[in-house]
Amino acid sequence: MSQLKVFADQNPNDALLDTTDGAQIAAELNRVGVLFERWAAPGEIADDATQEEILALYQEDIDRVKAKGGYQTVDVLHMVPTHPDKEAMRQKFLNEHRHHEDEVRFFVKGQGLFCLHIDDKVYQVLCTRNDLISVPANTPHWFDMGPEPEFTALRFFDNVEGWVPHWTESDIAGKFDRLDQL
Ligand SMILES: [Fe+2]
Repeated sequence: MSQLKVFADQNPNDALLDTTDGAQIAAELNRVGVLFERWAAPGEIADDATQEEILALYQEDIDRVKAKGGYQTVDVLHMVPTHPDKEAMRQKFLNEHRHHEDEVRFFVKGQGLFCLHIDDKVYQVLCTRNDLISVPANTPHWFDMGPEPEFTALRFFDNVEGWVPHWTESDIAGKFDRLDQL
């Protein structure tokens, strides 16, 4: 189930807010400029569905988000616990970083933990099936797919070279719970 916890950035132990209500999650995040949506489920998706089949299922929502955000391309990332590079892929985004572009993900299946550091708060968002999140460009954040990653996600890009992490050199990410500690 999707979940939002909001913390003061100096206090990772006491959440100021803890909710699993989709509308409240969207409202809290929208208030600080972060797009969050829960999409209607399109029906069952076969385990062996191709990238093209998955994109076709969500075509309407994909076109809407692309037009709104000016994104050029969308792809499908499929992670499984048996992926040989899972630890390296997890580590890559586990510390606080920024991108020069929005980081836009829609979870077709599975889950992932986004933490956004905005002003003096940390917004810890557990994204699950049917959740769209857009981390605005230049927002400090980190992402945890967990030690046994299992998700299928749409990724929206506004250029092919983009989406490089720029580290903030802060150790804040290590002070908050990881996905497997929730
Ligand atoms: Fe990122």
